[in-house]
Amino acid sequence: MGELMGSRKKDRCKKSKHKKHKRSGDAGEACEATKDRARAHFLDGNTGPWAKSLAAQDAQTPRSAQNENGADPAEDAAALPQGGTATITATRRGPDYSVPSSIDIVADPVLHALSTRRSISKVDPQTPNDSDLLEIIRSISSVADHKALRPWRFLIIRGDDRHRLGDALDEAAGVVRKPGETNTKPLRAELLLALVSSPVKHDKVPEWEQHATAAGAGHLLELALWQAGWGVMWRSGNLTNTEPVRRLHRLDDHELLMGWFYIGAVPERYRQRLTTSTRPLPKPEQFLDTL
Ligand SMILES: Cc1cc2nc3c(=O)[nH]c(=O)nc-3n(C[C@H](O)[C@H](O)[C@H](O)COP(=O)(O)O)c2cc1C
Repeated sequence: MGELMGSRKKDRCKKSKHKKHKRSGDAGEACEATKDRARAHFLDGNTGPWAKSLAAQDAQTPRSAQNENGADPAEDAAALPQGGTATITATRRGPDYSVPSSIDIVADPVLHALSTRRSISKVDPQTPNDSDLLEIIRSISSVADHKALRPWRFLIIRGDDRHRLGDALDEAAGVVRKPGETNTKPLRAELLLALVSSPVKHDKVPEWEQHATAAGAGHLLELALWQAGWGVMWRSGNLTNTEPVRRLHRLDDHELLMGWFYIGAVPERYRQRLTTSTRPLPKPEQFLDTL
């Protein structure tokens, strides 16, 4: 796996060298640094032992004796009794937890951020600036994306644009307010990012996969903001894809609005609470099974 990733990155670095506009020395160094970091992560970092043991297993088992999932077909066949689909349920083995994991979700900073993330419903007025947002988007653009169709984008909503969103929500709900009154829902944060899922027609990539990629970008955005120290809450609702709201966001017919990310600073009182309390995670066994 490390080798595959490395070769892709290498190609990209090489390609950009041949572009007409010359890359600065800094960019070249950054590229080298990224490559080194990726190499260290896969070969020497926390994922190293895992990657190495997989590679060792691979070397021991001849390729021809493995099926697509790396499992030994002889072993699989022995586990399956004779008969058709009716017997398949009876052979369900369930996950095997007899070998303890070497993954430490507290020590690993990325896994720790993943497991401690939470939504912040009331955020303070400070927000990341647009350049910060660009860096966040840069980091999450690694989202899994079949055929790299890039079927997602975010729209920045600040200041008066939040009132325009309130008006569109009112229009959708048929709410008429007194002069001077306004829908305060979009005012719950100084910055909102609207997520648009924008699938394209593709022979091999159905629309639902592209919505899954867009949703993935949304989840990564939440994580990236959390890791960068910002509070965020993803909100949507029944009015999200109504005509007035879609019109405001300039959506094409095939596009879907996936909701808004309300972004701001984590209030001090909340910060204090975060340092002392940890919300228990759901039991992971419920999310994992075998066929
Ligand atoms: C697509 C999507 C839309 C959501 N819309 C709302 C919403 O409109 N209102 C709300 O209170 N929570 C909404 N949530 C849930 C919150 O963002 C949040 O996940 C939830 O309050 C649980 O908090 P946690 O993220 O800390 O576990 C939505 C979540 C997703 C993924």
